[in-house]
Amino acid sequence: MYKTLMETAVKAREFAYAPYSNYLVGAALLGASGKIYTGCNVENATYTPTNCAERTAFFKAISEGEREFKAIAIVAGKRGEKLSPTCTPCGVCRQVMVEFCDKDFKIVLGTPDDYKVYDLESLIPLSFTNDEL
Ligand code: THU
Repeated sequence: MYKTLMETAVKAREFAYAPYSNYLVGAALLGASGKIYTGCNVENATYTPTNCAERTAFFKAISEGEREFKAIAIVAGKRGEKLSPTCTPCGVCRQVMVEFCDKDFKIVLGTPDDYKVYDLESLIPLSFTNDEL
């Protein structure tokens, strides 16, 4: 299951729009419905509006009615080079995950041939949640 998700993220990465960093990222998000939502990073000449692959996948899913999630696979690497074994989601994306996912939501990192699975809680401990509000 995780390998399929990683392979789907690799395909999504092909659509990355990253002419400034040349760092291409793909994500594949598994919803509780069983549907997979893909995403890539989308950069901008003014830099700030850049959207990470993970948030692209989440916002696609949310905007299509999916509200519960099981896992996300993320792959990344510089254009023309091998996939990086070390790309992890940025802080903003981790906070978006906290908004919609349980602590045991799975984050799959690495490559399709060599990946590790992390619980969301381990990547953003003591996070601020909407339970507080
Ligand atoms: N990026 C992602 O899409 N996801 C990550 O987990 C890390 C960073 C993107 C943002 C930007 O387009 C490029 O990678 C370099 O930071």
